[in-house]
Amino acid sequence: MSHAEDHEGTRRDFLYYATAGAGAVTAGAAVWPLVNQMNPSADVKALASIRVDISGIETGTQLTVKWQGKPVFIRRRTEEEIEAARNVDMSTLIDSSARNDNGNESADASDENRALDENGEWLVMMGVCTHLGCVPLGNAAGEFGGWFCPCHGSHYDTSGRIRKGPAPENLPVPVANFVDETTIELG
Ligand code: FES
Repeated sequence: MSHAEDHEGTRRDFLYYATAGAGAVTAGAAVWPLVNQMNPSADVKALASIRVDISGIETGTQLTVKWQGKPVFIRRRTEEEIEAARNVDMSTLIDSSARNDNGNESADASDENRALDENGEWLVMMGVCTHLGCVPLGNAAGEFGGWFCPCHGSHYDTSGRIRKGPAPENLPVPVANFVDETTIELG
């Protein structure tokens, strides 16, 4: 594939998410310029792994980066969010699988299996609704204080697990690792 074609692909993906997330225009508008800035070229997008500087992410906020053509949410959670995520009765979950590419296939959807670090401060997930692929709104959105997809009303909790609405699965957790204290590598 030529660079030109690759770039077209990037653009199509971007437009797709922008359009699909039309209900999420406010958050989208704030998020995407940053994403574009961080991933200026198709060459970067095509890389199997990228490194993200997380030093500027305040507690209770999230950074959205584009990786392999899709948005990835990197959230630095508050104590309350972590506690809420860890106190959930697992039998109430719609999807009890971890959706975590980091390893253990038999892992369940406990927050401990989804968070990046042991303390649960960092949660990294694909920002793609498992219903039809819109980009859910973050910042303690929805009835479970996590993410909300306004397209058809899917509510995710503070661990990104689907709790209500048509989406069938938890937000996927990609392969991610700390390179150092302020850098996360995706892929
Ligand atoms: S795409 Fe998210 S609820 Fe339909």
